[in-house]
Amino acid sequence: MVLQDKVALVTGAGRRVGRTIALALAERGAAVALHCRNSRAQAESAAAEIAARGGRARVLTADLESIAAAEGLIADTIGAFGRIDVLVNSAAVFTRGAIDGISERDWDETFAVNLKAPFFLARAAGAAMRRQGAGKIINLSDIAARRPFLNYIPYSIAKAGLEAMTIALARALAPEVQVNAIALGIVAPPEDFDRAELERLVRRIPVRRIGAPEDAARAAVFLCEAADFATGATLTLDGGRLIG
Ligand SMILES: NC(=O)c1ccc[n+]([C@@H]2O[C@H](COP(=O)([O-])OP(=O)(O)OC[C@H]3O[C@@H](n4cnc5c(N)ncnc54)[C@H](OP(=O)(O)O)[C@@H]3O)[C@@H](O)[C@H]2O)c1
Repeated sequence: MVLQDKVALVTGAGRRVGRTIALALAERGAAVALHCRNSRAQAESAAAEIAARGGRARVLTADLESIAAAEGLIADTIGAFGRIDVLVNSAAVFTRGAIDGISERDWDETFAVNLKAPFFLARAAGAAMRRQGAGKIINLSDIAARRPFLNYIPYSIAKAGLEAMTIALARALAPEVQVNAIALGIVAPPEDFDRAELERLVRRIPVRRIGAPEDAARAAVFLCEAADFATGATLTLDGGRLIG
């Protein structure tokens, strides 16, 4: 799919990885709906950056714990730009806690934002894409789906579910829509990670460095523009961590 003049919705696009993906899709000529919840000011600044480069962008707010809000986000994207060609599910919660400290609230929030919302977003966007005849859905996963993190058990399980969902939706929305995932290793450390923790992590990564949000953005552009034959696939970008 050529991104020029297409319409992309990126969730969690105010900060970090989502923002970088939104800017990269805009750089390729797509009009971008930047979803945020609390990071409105940052999303507005990203939209202003896109507009300054001659692109089209709109900021849309939604709490993705609500399915009605998630479905409304797809309707708002279509309302703003007339269509939707690309959905990037990047918004997520990443709540730290050992097994005994996991509350029902942590579990419900993680599954609502990281797994349930991507499904209902993809279903609504997928229906519009099928009517248009083509579309791309990209789910941001994590190597934790295959090697669960002990301090992030609900997160890891939700990401495993997201990879299963990627396969299910790739089949359900074929042949018009391709659905793929990007399983990231560390590309933007959580803000509460200290330097020692990061150094310990880097020693376990074969390429001996962490990645960057731009690695995810390049992969998203690749999946949209150069990988029409890929569907139901998960592209792992982890510096070799899973094989190290
Ligand atoms: N960063 C990494 O190294 C890394 C590694 C592996 C996988 N990933 C995956 O890549 C994606 C992006 O990572 P990231 O580090 O950029 O994510 P992040 O900073 O942890 O979160 C992205 C955004 O999710 C949004 N969000 C959280 N709860 C929400 C809710 N209830 N409703 C709506 N939005 C909500 C927040 O938006 P607001 O700020 O607007 O509230 C937040 O800015 C995630 O899916 C993550 O699991 C990242």
